[in-house]
Amino acid sequence: PAAVIVAIDGPAGTGKSSTSKAVAAKLGLGYLDTGAQYRAITWWMVNNGIDADDATAVADASAKPVIVSGTDPSGPTITVDGVDVSGPIRTQEVTSKVSAVSAVPEVRARITELQRSIAAEAPRGIVVEGRDIGTTVLPDADVKVFLTASAEARAARRSGELKGKDAAGLAATQAALAKRDAADSGRKTSPLAKADDAIEVDTTDLTLEQVIECVVTLVEEKR
Ligand code: C5P
Repeated sequence: PAAVIVAIDGPAGTGKSSTSKAVAAKLGLGYLDTGAQYRAITWWMVNNGIDADDATAVADASAKPVIVSGTDPSGPTITVDGVDVSGPIRTQEVTSKVSAVSAVPEVRARITELQRSIAAEAPRGIVVEGRDIGTTVLPDADVKVFLTASAEARAARRSGELKGKDAAGLAATQAALAKRDAADSGRKTSPLAKADDAIEVDTTDLTLEQVIECVVTLVEEKR
């Protein structure tokens, strides 16, 4: 069969990464975490003393870091200038700054180009997860899914991942997610949005297995 392109978008904590990796593994496709790419460029900015809120400085430096993404769903990798940054890109500092860096048009142009070339080179096809994949990066994707979940469910999943399960930790996580989503949805260039032809899946009351099954079925229907 021809290569199949699957776009999975949605806000943080909806299960995009777990779903995308599992779908890719089941169907023998590649996997690209575009959030990791924005985190990687943000990590580089922080590491090089560039203020994430200084859009001019971020734009001027945006072409400098060399970002390479491995697309194996069983062990996706990401390096910046040859350094494995899969751990460092998940810190709270990077998480709190990534929305500002990813709102800069020069950053988006560069990362979008990278994403398109990775998708074009995937031999059997690829599952690409992010915020603007179905709308901007790969508008001709064969399958477009937009995952949603209640704010409470998203915060609970995320704080489970962070192992901060107390009530205060949960409230703080929910506030941080809401702030990031508002920034990602409100930016001028390529905001977080559901494509008109994307299928919305509300994962609030679904298990991860149910979400995976649902997306696998959508892809198989298209093949
Ligand atoms: O998916 P993840 O939460 O790791 O994404 C981190 C951040 O990267 C998002 O909050 C958003 O600011 C940015 N991002 C983006 N466009 C994408 C994917 C992620 O702007 N396609």
